[in-house]
Amino acid sequence: MINVLFISLGNICRSPMAEVILRKRIEEQVLSAFVTVDSAGIGHWHEGKEMHPSARELLGHKGILMVNHVAKQVQSEILGAYDYIFVMDQLNLRDLSAIAPAHTSRYRLFSDLIPERAGEDIEDPFFTGEFEAVYEMLEAGCAELCEIIKQQTQWKEPV
Ligand code: 4NP
Repeated sequence: MINVLFISLGNICRSPMAEVILRKRIEEQVLSAFVTVDSAGIGHWHEGKEMHPSARELLGHKGILMVNHVAKQVQSEILGAYDYIFVMDQLNLRDLSAIAPAHTSRYRLFSDLIPERAGEDIEDPFFTGEFEAVYEMLEAGCAELCEIIKQQTQWKEPV
């Protein structure tokens, strides 16, 4: 089993979007037996809240309608349980490394999943309003991540 965690600042925009986008792909590609996915925020400000309305609306237009997200803050003691920990930008990377330095070598920028976008920040749509651009990047990265999961597990093409 491969355990994936997505982290963003507030856990109401980028990281829960990544979570549900990956979940949809996992279901479509019959990968559920091989992977778990979760998301969390660096900050506690939005704990208990649902996803940002603009994120929900955009996901609805993309065919992802059932989104029951409850925002939570990352707990450093659970990080050891994850095989992949993806952050959305350099600020997340710095903040997470300060919160949980023991796992710093395992934190990855989400954009590094996408060869032509490697090293880029996924900018915060809470401030930019650019939800569509975020969605496109998350889609591209989650597609790559599914290929990695297939290669690293006993997954076989459904007959
Ligand atoms: P996220 O969005 O980090 O993409 O989940 C944010 C949500 C709220 C805030 C920042 C980012 N905030 O500053 O409240």
